[in-house]
Amino acid sequence: MSERRCILAIESSCDETAAAVLDGDQLKSNIISTQIKEHQKYGGVYPELASRLHLQNVASVVFMALEKAGVKPAELTHVAVTAGPGLPGALQVGVVAAKTIAAFLDIPLIGVHHLAGHIYANEYAGDFHFPAIACLASGGNSEIILMRKHLDFSIVGQTLDDAIGEAFDKVAREIGLPYPGGVYIDRLVKSNPQVAPFPLPKPKVAGYNLSYSGLKSHIIRMVERERAASGGQLSEQRVVEYAVSVERAFVDQFIDKAIRAAEDFQAKQIVIGGGVSANSYLRARVQALTDRFEVLIPPMWCTTDNASMIAKAASHLIDAGYGSDLSLPTDPGMDLDGFPFSGEFPGTYPLADRR
Ligand code: KG4
Repeated sequence: MSERRCILAIESSCDETAAAVLDGDQLKSNIISTQIKEHQKYGGVYPELASRLHLQNVASVVFMALEKAGVKPAELTHVAVTAGPGLPGALQVGVVAAKTIAAFLDIPLIGVHHLAGHIYANEYAGDFHFPAIACLASGGNSEIILMRKHLDFSIVGQTLDDAIGEAFDKVAREIGLPYPGGVYIDRLVKSNPQVAPFPLPKPKVAGYNLSYSGLKSHIIRMVERERAASGGQLSEQRVVEYAVSVERAFVDQFIDKAIRAAEDFQAKQIVIGGGVSANSYLRARVQALTDRFEVLIPPMWCTTDNASMIAKAASHLIDAGYGSDLSLPTDPGMDLDGFPFSGEFPGTYPLADRR
């Protein structure tokens, strides 16, 4: 019988403090303390406030995850943590917490790439079949990634400017919706299925790359002109029309490029991940591809930042023999190309060498 593997994972890269316990294949707990309400009054994430709230909450989130899982600290076999990319101060809180636990319990520490976590969130829905094209769509990232096997990430396309989630949030703010705008745009679209989109320009970007900044600025200029002409207010109907049209244009650009990449690389499967993978239209467009590709879509509960996805990615790192030592640094700009760190990333060592 193989040895029990019980991973405690911690995630604090942005505005969610999260901890999860993955016991074998069983997710025993997944606790998320979101800071969205605290950041709403700033219209976006205020990094210093994020760090302070992580510091305030991380211990209780970890205790809650253990308690809900019914797992005692001594039963843990590994501690996984997001080491990057993310907000510098925010990442440090999770990493210090994880190191302390790893040192105290004398168990291996596993540094995880946040985006690898978003991709492995899909494993709560099904298995990967390679080659796969992974579409990463979040507030800070828009990437089309070719995976030929587990932990093998080649970015074949990415945004040349704004991320899709960032563009959603900026346009939403312009039409008067709260942060995080992508969520509110999606809600409006779902509750107004009769409203048709109006046409928006299609950015011309080479290869599998994407661009959102020009489209976003075009829309913002349109809104400003309409506001000026109507004395400052957009009608409720017009806000809905914008929401429907923007969602369609933003998502279509992403999925059309992903399909092209999947065809060119003869992908068996298309997978999606990141906060924007919660978007209903994006999910529907990907679901509609099932006659051409296998499709893997993370469960809704695993689309926002959480630690269960970090635990899944860690499990693959453990299988492949990767671990980190107590000098594991954080890397706010950590690349996905080249992860896992292959010994070049400080604080990384083969698990077998752990002393
Ligand atoms: O991956 P994520 O939770 O956080 C980081 O980027 O770190 O993604 C957050 C982004 C925000 O821009 C938010 O507006 C967007 O995901 N988002 C959505 C939806 N849910 C979250 N965008 C469109 N439709 C949604 N349903």
